[in-house]
Amino acid sequence: MADTITIVDDRTGKKVTVPVIDGVIPSSALRELDPNLRVYDPAFLSTAACRSAITFVDGDAGVLRYRGYPIEQLAEHSTFLEVAYLLLHGELPTAAQLEAWGYEVTHHTMIHENMRKRFVDGFHYDAHPMGMFISSVAALGTFYPESNRIFDAATLDKQVLRLIAKVPTLAAMCYRFSSGLPFVSPNNGLGFGANFLNMMFKIGDDYRVDPTLARAMEVLFILHADHEQNCGTTALRTVASANADPYSAVAAGAAALYGPLHGGANEAVVRMLAEIGDMSQVDAFIASVKSGKGRLMGFGHRIYKQYDPRATLIKRTAEDVFKVTGKNPLLDVALKLEEVALRDDYFVSRKLYPNVDFYSGLIYQALRFPIEMFTVLFAIPRTAGWLAHYRELLGDDAQKISRPRQWYVGEASRDYVPLHKR
Ligand code: CMC
Repeated sequence: MADTITIVDDRTGKKVTVPVIDGVIPSSALRELDPNLRVYDPAFLSTAACRSAITFVDGDAGVLRYRGYPIEQLAEHSTFLEVAYLLLHGELPTAAQLEAWGYEVTHHTMIHENMRKRFVDGFHYDAHPMGMFISSVAALGTFYPESNRIFDAATLDKQVLRLIAKVPTLAAMCYRFSSGLPFVSPNNGLGFGANFLNMMFKIGDDYRVDPTLARAMEVLFILHADHEQNCGTTALRTVASANADPYSAVAAGAAALYGPLHGGANEAVVRMLAEIGDMSQVDAFIASVKSGKGRLMGFGHRIYKQYDPRATLIKRTAEDVFKVTGKNPLLDVALKLEEVALRDDYFVSRKLYPNVDFYSGLIYQALRFPIEMFTVLFAIPRTAGWLAHYRELLGDDAQKISRPRQWYVGEASRDYVPLHKR
């Protein structure tokens, strides 16, 4: 079978034969046929907007790999900082590289005092931490005026380092502010996940981070570090394509992530489980979803048409966490929901399975994170993935400023009507 597709324009009889490479055809073939022809593809269902070598997802097989490494192996053997290095550089670090990278990140975790005193302290007392996070990331860039020199490799590397190191500090700062608690400085003696837990929860000198919980935090960060061209990454790439600085681009990615259909789903899942409240209410809830009243949050995915591999790993991590914290009482409701949904033709026929957000919120809650922090917990590790995409885009000669075309369906030309005649 030829690896080509021939497209015939029946209006003119012109035809083009297009190569199919890895299941992809270039849209330039259509422009050859007719430069004014447009492809109507809302939500990019069939459009590959870039070539990328960072993350591979096979939604039918339930496969996720970062730079070729299966997510299961990374979750078992790696640390978040090692994975962040892998995403950014394309290869796992050597021992010396990992040590140097860990040292650099650890020594860039502090935030300028004015960031807290003049910016974060200005938020309203009940501000949502995700709104605070998005704007704080953008504001952080104003402390580094050189950050707009994005084609200077050393300057960009410095911003990448700063962002990865400082987003946990910013996130914890937003939480402590909204809880009225004093800010806890980063602790250089702790690993990435443990340091974050310490900044979040330390009260008094007795607080010690439990190693099982610190490991769970690392695993959750690894699982959320990247997921190729999702809504947030597409937002980041669009902003980056205009050559905006990395702080502004990451803020854009985070803003998209905030939405309940995207990273905001982990928050929505726990609210949904609490509303269902009891296993006896599960059947009635499923019936209401099927009748069109809302969605089963944490279920379904644009790409995965079977169990999201991240959900499998999160379910396993939940068992470790619950051994330390005690079981989250909403777990039984979640397990029952999954069992009922996976037996129901509505969900089976639409290939709706648990996604990454279905069980993650239960762990976060057991770790004592307030619900409003859940999406922030997604944004911290995703910053590494976003920055890998940011760098990839800047180095890709095929990329230009993002500028989709539209299908205009508005009024044709008409004359202005003076106010007194309307
Ligand atoms: N509950 C009930 N029905 C659903 C659900 C759901 N969670 N998800 C999809 N459907 C139905 C939908 O109504 C439609 O049915 P029909 O064909 O009869 O109209 C069909 O399944 C296809 O849905 P879609 O909205 O066309 O699918 P999509 O690919 O555009 O949406 C999604 C993907 C994730 C937005 C959607 O599945 C959803 O809203 N899920 C709940 C929110 C959620 O858990 N989001 C987290 C996604 S994973 C984390 C991330 O990467 O962001």
